[in-house]
Amino acid sequence: MKGIILAGGLGSRLRPLTKVTNKHLLPIYDKPMIYYPLETLCQAGIDEIMIVTGGNSAGDFLRLLGNGREFGLHDIYYTYQEGEGGIADALKLCEHFAEGDSVCVILGDNIIEDDITPYVEKFKAQASGARLLLKEVEDPERFGVPELDGDRIVRIDEKPDHPKSKYAVTGIYMYDGRVFDYCRDLKPSKRGELEITDVNNAYIAAGDLRYDVLSGWWTDAGQFESLFHASQLVAAQRAQH
Ligand code: DAU
Repeated sequence: MKGIILAGGLGSRLRPLTKVTNKHLLPIYDKPMIYYPLETLCQAGIDEIMIVTGGNSAGDFLRLLGNGREFGLHDIYYTYQEGEGGIADALKLCEHFAEGDSVCVILGDNIIEDDITPYVEKFKAQASGARLLLKEVEDPERFGVPELDGDRIVRIDEKPDHPKSKYAVTGIYMYDGRVFDYCRDLKPSKRGELEITDVNNAYIAAGDLRYDVLSGWWTDAGQFESLFHASQLVAAQRAQH
């Protein structure tokens, strides 16, 4: 299984913080944001990792992370997304890297308390398909929101005005090799992006999507409030250990 960190896009919601630097290089408490998804993948034993970057200061990822020795990696693969075509547009750049293998994709601005190893193991035990991680939140309308029927997700709505559940689909996705076929069929959404939610709905239509609910805290860090909140969560965690 290969790991993919999506750290492209322009970080427009965090301007002027992202006017000259890349969102994923901004600090979350005591480390640059990109460290967190990288550590999450490494902790789960995923050691072949591609970082999709984009926008400003892309070369600084190499200066910061190098070959990933600090994280116990042999090397890190990098690629560059032009513009802000969406999460699935960034993912498409990794087809060649994946070589038909399954992938664990994490958004570069997602910070999570849990070790994801148990979820990765469950995904590996699946014969095929996708596996998502959900988290109950107070503001589901900011996220992809699942509609649940018993223990099945029947559909996911991207940033709905009237959320059908209290859960957010977090930015940690596990896919089999078919994901790139689904990505190829996508059409840009109303916001002009190729949406990962459409990829997940394709897996639902194929009857091949499972999920777990996270027990620990999870946050994105893509807006001023959530960026600040992420630092507070990490600081509190450091104080405990
Ligand atoms: O955080 C989880 C949420 O992430 C999900 O619940 C949503 O379903 C999903 O669409 C996404 O929502 P956002 O609108 O918050 O995503 P955002 O545009 O902020 O992008 C999140 C990360 O994805 C960003 O830090 C880098 C990567 N990205 C994003 C875009 C638009 C790219 O690599 N390329 C892109 O073009």
